Amino acid sequence: MQKLAAGNWKMNGSAAALAEVGALIAAHPAPACEMLLCPPATLLAQMTWAARGSKLMTGGQDCHTKASGAHTGDISAAMLKDAGASHVILGHSERRADHGESDALVKAKAEAALAAGLTAIVCLGETEAQRDAGETLALCGSQLNGSLPEGANAANLVVAYEPVWAIGTGRTPTLDQIAEVHGFLRAQLVKRLGEDGHGVRLLYGGSVKPSNAAEIFAVRDVDGALVGGASLKAADFGAIVAALSAA
Ligand code: PGA
Repeated sequence: MQKLAAGNWKMNGSAAALAEVGALIAAHPAPACEMLLCPPATLLAQMTWAARGSKLMTGGQDCHTKASGAHTGDISAAMLKDAGASHVILGHSERRADHGESDALVKAKAEAALAAGLTAIVCLGETEAQRDAGETLALCGSQLNGSLPEGANAANLVVAYEPVWAIGTGRTPTLDQIAEVHGFLRAQLVKRLGEDGHGVRLLYGGSVKPSNAAEIFAVRDVDGALVGGASLKAADFGAIVAALSAA
């Protein structure tokens, strides 16, 4: 299985920030893992152009369930594909919280992504209150089951475990806690998808940085990372790519 280092720029980055892309590609021309950046939609086509001929792939951060139509402000999976995207992040906790996205909506968006030929990165994870209440596995299981698109397989689905309390906080779960959730998600994926469940990349996300990447990548069933803040700087994201390449 090819591991995946994915960066989520969230609502950050202007044209000037594309200099980071050039630096990243120059420093990591042939990583031993897949490398993906998901910029804001305004930069997607430009970033894809900047990355042409390199190993860097680009993706969107959300898409609509429909391919086109009267949906002001929205972007379809087909449009992301047209702009050069290979992937799209769906169901990120910030979208679940800011836009009230339900599992059913995430599933419908993921199905639209697959129909457009994109790989869907489906995100899930518990809040701190849910972890404290001992609900982590039950919650992750129900989010996975509710959000998983029909037609998913090892090639078109990636799942990202992102504890909400670890995102942007500098806090991370213990390695045992990460191993527990990833092992659980792997078992659920195998139950749902059969053999293909073994091949679905399971990313960990939430305060991944150069200083903790290697130890997280050594955890069983961690097949890469979804990186927010540390993906904005080529040096930091490059160090994470290097750690994953060495894992
Ligand atoms: P972070 O964000 O790396 O800044 O914690 C991760 C994410 O939201 O994907």
